[in-house]
Parts: sequence; structure tokens; C-alpha cells
Amino acid sequence: MKSTLVKKAVTENPVHELIRSRWSARSFSDKPIAQADLDTIFEAASWAFSAMNAQPWEYVYAHRSDTEAFEKLWNCLMPGNQPWAKNAAVLVVSLVKKKFENGNLNAAALHDVGAANAQLSLQATALGIHTHPMGGFDKKAVIELMNLDPTEVEPVLIFALGYLDAAEKLEEPFQSRELTGRSRNPVEEFAEQL
Ligand SMILES: Cc1cc2nc3c(=O)[nH]c(=O)nc-3n(C[C@H](O)[C@H](O)[C@H](O)COP(=O)(O)O)c2cc1C
Repeated sequence: MKSTLVKKAVTENPVHELIRSRWSARSFSDKPIAQADLDTIFEAASWAFSAMNAQPWEYVYAHRSDTEAFEKLWNCLMPGNQPWAKNAAVLVVSLVKKKFENGNLNAAALHDVGAANAQLSLQATALGIHTHPMGGFDKKAVIELMNLDPTEVEPVLIFALGYLDAAEKLEEPFQSRELTGRSRNPVEEFAEQL
């Protein structure tokens, strides 16, 4: 049997297991994601903090079993993401609502969508589901596909979600990337006392 990979973060401090276990996988199995689990993942995202509790996020998704919708989203991905993302169980577009209800620009909107996306990823991890965020997509194509007014709402990234499969399933260069270890800058490089 082919092995499945664990790329749990090796940390200097006792970082929570859930955070250590999240990583951006590329090899996805055929197993679909149950709608109830997907709803749980989106609800977890909604419990992120946001300026004025404006919750400036939206998500549009397609299960792989919904071939037509899935292909519409998949077609928006850059060539470097398409070969492996085609096996995702679900593709999710993360969108940002740029204005508050009163029409004023929300300067914190992107920050808050990032927070929601982090929670989305961690809830997925807790359910044994991997997420892989992708900035490599054609923004204009998504705007057109969804008939968005980019002064109001814009796509931020597209997530691939799915259950992990063996790295050996991937072609190169994706297999090597899947097998490469993970690293982070040491805490003292980015956090200091005033
Ligand atoms: C905004 C954003 C854009 C990204 N775009 C891509 C992408 O287009 N393709 C890709 O393979 N990974 C992409 N990634 C994944 C990052 O490369 C990955 O999160 C980073 O290398 C850290 O690895 P880890 O998530 O496994 O900890 C993106 C991540 C973020 C947050």
C-alpha cells in the first residue's frame, strides 16, 4: 500500500496540534466531502473576528461530482494549479465584500477574509480534510463567471479541499513539492518586545 504523508509542523514551542497538522496538500483521494462537513467548515469561517462584525466574506463552491460547475471553477485556475487541483473534492472561491453596508470602504476587509479563511482551513483540518489556497487563478475570469461588480465584491483566492492521498499519485514537479518539508522563520525574527 502506498503511504500517505504527514507534514506536521515541527515547532520550538508547544503549538496546538490542530495548527501543526494543517498543510497545503496537492494529492487528493476520490472521497467526496459530505455537505454537512462543508457547512461546518463555512460556519467555522464565519466565527472569525471582523471589523464592526461586518463579516466581509462570501464563498462560492462546487463539488467535483457537479462536473459542470466544478469545471467552470477549475478553468479559472492557472496552469500550475490545474493538474493537481482537478482531483480536489471541492473547489471554493473566497470572495471579499469591499464596502460596509453604508457604502464606505472597509479597510479591514481583506484582513478579515484572511482570518475567516484561516478558520476555514483549521476546521477542515479538524475534520481530516486538507485545504490548499491558490492565488494562482484568473481573477477576471472569476469576475466574469460570477457576474461580479468588482467595486463591491472581488475574488481573493480559490481553495482546493479534499482528503489526502499518496504523494506518488502526483506527476512532477508536484510530487516533489508534496514531499518537501515545511519550515517557518524563527519567532525571534518577527516578534520582539518593544
Ligand atoms: C494567498 C495565497 C496564495 C497561494 N497561492 C498558491 C498557488 O497559486 N499555488 C500553490 O500551489 N500554492 C499556493 N499557496 C499555498 C502556499 O504556497 C502555502 O500556504 C505556503 O507555501 C505554506 O505552506 P503550508 O500551507 O503547507 O504551510 C498560496 C497561499 C496563499 C495564502
